[in-house]
Amino acid sequence: MKILFIASEVTPFSKTGGLGDVAGALPAALAELGHDVKVVTPRYADVKDPRLTPTGHSLHVRFPFGEETGPILSVRLSERLEVLFLENERFFGRKGIYGDALGEFGDNYRRYAYLSVGALQAAQRLRFIPDIVHVNDWQTGLVPVALKRGFQASPLSRARTVMTIHNLAYQGQFRKDIMGELGLPWDLFNAHDGIEFYDTVNFLKAGLTFADAITTVSPTYAKEIQTPEAGCNLEGLLRRQHGRLVGILNGIDTHEWDPAQDTLIPARYTPEEMTGKAACKRTLLKESGLEETDAPVFGIVSRLAYQKGIDLLLEVMPVALQSDIRFVAIGSGEGQYEEGLRALQARFPKQVGVYIGFHKGFSHLVEAGADFFLMPSRYEPCGLNQMYSLKYGTVPIVRATGGLVDTVEGGLEGNGILFEAFHPAAMLAAMRRAQALYADPSRLEGFRRRGMQRDFSWTSSARRYESLFTSLLKE
Ligand code: ADP
Ligand code: GLC
Repeated sequence: MKILFIASEVTPFSKTGGLGDVAGALPAALAELGHDVKVVTPRYADVKDPRLTPTGHSLHVRFPFGEETGPILSVRLSERLEVLFLENERFFGRKGIYGDALGEFGDNYRRYAYLSVGALQAAQRLRFIPDIVHVNDWQTGLVPVALKRGFQASPLSRARTVMTIHNLAYQGQFRKDIMGELGLPWDLFNAHDGIEFYDTVNFLKAGLTFADAITTVSPTYAKEIQTPEAGCNLEGLLRRQHGRLVGILNGIDTHEWDPAQDTLIPARYTPEEMTGKAACKRTLLKESGLEETDAPVFGIVSRLAYQKGIDLLLEVMPVALQSDIRFVAIGSGEGQYEEGLRALQARFPKQVGVYIGFHKGFSHLVEAGADFFLMPSRYEPCGLNQMYSLKYGTVPIVRATGGLVDTVEGGLEGNGILFEAFHPAAMLAAMRRAQALYADPSRLEGFRRRGMQRDFSWTSSARRYESLFTSLLKE
């Protein structure tokens, strides 16, 4: 089948988090199953890939606020997989993906309306008539609406649409006067079967209302978002749609994340031959400004956001660091958490290393060099880092929520450590269990091996998407 996949970030071209990873890997896995896939994404200022080639086509999208134009560029990744980049100097020519140091960009509703309508127009221009249009998160929420309301005359309107929720908490909510600016018909502005949400326009809700099927990135999160605790005020809608809502666990890119082949780490290793991991630990300590040690190293790689439980971590660490452990963190995001991590390092300079910023190489080094990986998330739709750490023989310590429940196995014969309550005592107890495990090398070896051997490749998840698409086409 022909699949049009639209996302606001796509690894290796752009990335702020897991969405980029998924948009890089899932289309490739679908192409490997024999489907024709085109991915559409913005060409941000930082996208400078030498493979970028002009398609010779341009967009002309007419909004009430003005006509927006720009060329369509392409990178062909394989016979069946092409990534199309929408260039537009005004919208995507600046630094930053969703915002900059001053916060979210104020014209994001225009930028992502352009992506949404532009992606459909790009498919038309390239004469690519998709069977399935697969959209992701709020940035692409207007696509299902545009297909039903703006493209009725086009063969594109026959496509079935799937919307994937990677994070329900980010909904793209804007004041209602953007309806006029974007030319959205006012009959859509109703809360029951439209795009209104408490007197605002909600892009995610738009997508959820108009898509033919909804998926999210783990089975547990699919259940959680139908409850008031995790439903972000959309639980009613999701419960009503629950027959059309399915949780499909993300996979990981096993080419990028494989300790036996990873060239971003100083030494490679396998479950049978783990000496390389010790070399990675030495380099990690050195690059973090810490002395070599046999003490256990706890690592974290994270967006520094409310979701990730950095506040809980900052509460627990001063106590945990009273025993002989090390802690290495890489992350960027909210200022209060960046400050908190820096302050922790200043207080425990011999035990804590902190890198504030986004750095691919260092994120791989933490996955490989740490003994334990911390994810004290408040909620976690899927989470990729815990799967990376399992692959790297780094035992994850996670809160029992969302996709973390579906990927990390607790218990004596498990591959990781889970804690239930979002509470310092619960997290501290989990870290103590980790220290006990570390003191027992043969048990630790078992945990590592079981993690490294588990299959997290995309193939089986891509097959689940494939069967969902097939069933939609039969409807
Ligand atoms: P989320 O998408 O909620 O941020 P995930 O666990 O799904 O969480 O994915 C996060 C992705 O972003 C992983 O690939 C992780 O390695 C990467 N990442 C997060 N922060 C950084 C950072 N500071 N530097 C490099 N990579 C990072
Ligand atoms: C979101 C979620 C994360 C998930 C990722 C990819 O960013 O926060 O849990 O792994 O999307 O689906």
